Amino acid sequence: MTRKIIIDTDPGQDDAVAILLALGSPELEVLGITCVAGNVPLALTSKNARIVCELAGRRDVKVFAGCDRPLLRPLVTAEYVHGKTGLDGIPLPEPTMALQDQHAVDFIIETLRSEAPGTVTLCPLGPLTNIATAFRRAPEIISKVEQIVLMGGAYFEVGNTTPAAEFNIYVDPQAAEIVFKCGAPVVVVPLDATHKALTTRPRIEAFRALGTPVGAAVASWTDFFERFDMAKYGSEGAPLHDPCVIAWLLRPDLFEGRFINVEIETHSELTMGMTVADWWRVTKREPNALFLRDVDADGFYTLLTERLARL
Ligand code: BDR
Ligand code: CA
Repeated sequence: MTRKIIIDTDPGQDDAVAILLALGSPELEVLGITCVAGNVPLALTSKNARIVCELAGRRDVKVFAGCDRPLLRPLVTAEYVHGKTGLDGIPLPEPTMALQDQHAVDFIIETLRSEAPGTVTLCPLGPLTNIATAFRRAPEIISKVEQIVLMGGAYFEVGNTTPAAEFNIYVDPQAAEIVFKCGAPVVVVPLDATHKALTTRPRIEAFRALGTPVGAAVASWTDFFERFDMAKYGSEGAPLHDPCVIAWLLRPDLFEGRFINVEIETHSELTMGMTVADWWRVTKREPNALFLRDVDADGFYTLLTERLARL
C-alpha cells in the first residue's frame, strides 16, 4: 500500500532532492506539492518545484503556490546559501507545466477533508506558513492528518540562521508554534540529525555516476551549496536536510530520536524561533513530537542514490 503525502516546500536544492526522492519511491503517492516563500520568494519556489517535476519526467504532479510571506514577520530569504534562483548549480529549462489555479492552503484543506481520516501525511520542508494557515482556517482537518514529518529546528546544534534558531522555524515562528501545538502526531527532523547526513566526494560522485539528467542535477546542486556549509562549519561536506524527511518515511530504522516536548520561542528577539526541546525530560510538559537526533548517513545516501537511479 502506498502512503499519501503532500510535500510543502520552498525549493532550494535540498528541497529539490527531497522531491526527487519522493518521486523515485513507489511506496509514496505525492498528492500535491504546495509551495511557500522561504529560501527564495514564492514566485521562484513555485517555479523551482515545477522545474524539478519536469526533470523527473513527472509533469502530472500538481504544484500549488501558497503563502508569499510569514504570518506576522517580514520574509527572510536565503539566497546566500541557495543562490539567486534558489536552484543555482546547473542550468535547467524553464518549466512548461502549469501551476494549479487553486491556492496551496485551499488544496491542503480540501485534500484533508476529502481523503479518509488518518491517511494523509504532511511533509513540510520550509517555513510552516501554509500548514499553519490551513489549520487556522479549518481546524477540523487537524484530526484527519496521519502525521506531520517536518524539517526544522535544532537542539544540540542550536542555530544556523541566528545563534539560537534554524532557518525554517526562524522565518515563521508563529506558524511553527501553531503546528507544534496542534495535537497531530509530529516528527521533527532537526539540524541535529541532518548535520550528520553530510555529502562527501564519493557520495556526490555516486549521484553523477548515475549518468542521468537527475544524477547530474543532484551532483551539481550539492556541489554548489557545499561551498557554503564547508566554509561555515569547516565540515567535510554539506547536509542534505530536507531529503531526510522523505527518508524517514521510507526507512525510519535509519534514524533515532526521542518523543519529547518541543516549544517554539516567539517572544524574545534574541532567541526568536528557537526549538526549546526537552531532550533530558527536565519539565513535566507533555511530549508533542518525535525529535530525531541521529541518522545512519551511509544508509541514507545508499537509499537516496538507489531511488534517484529510478528516475
Ligand atoms: C532548512 O533551511 C533551508 O535552507 C533548507 O532548504 C532546509 O529546509 C535547513 O535549515
Ligand atoms: Ca527547505
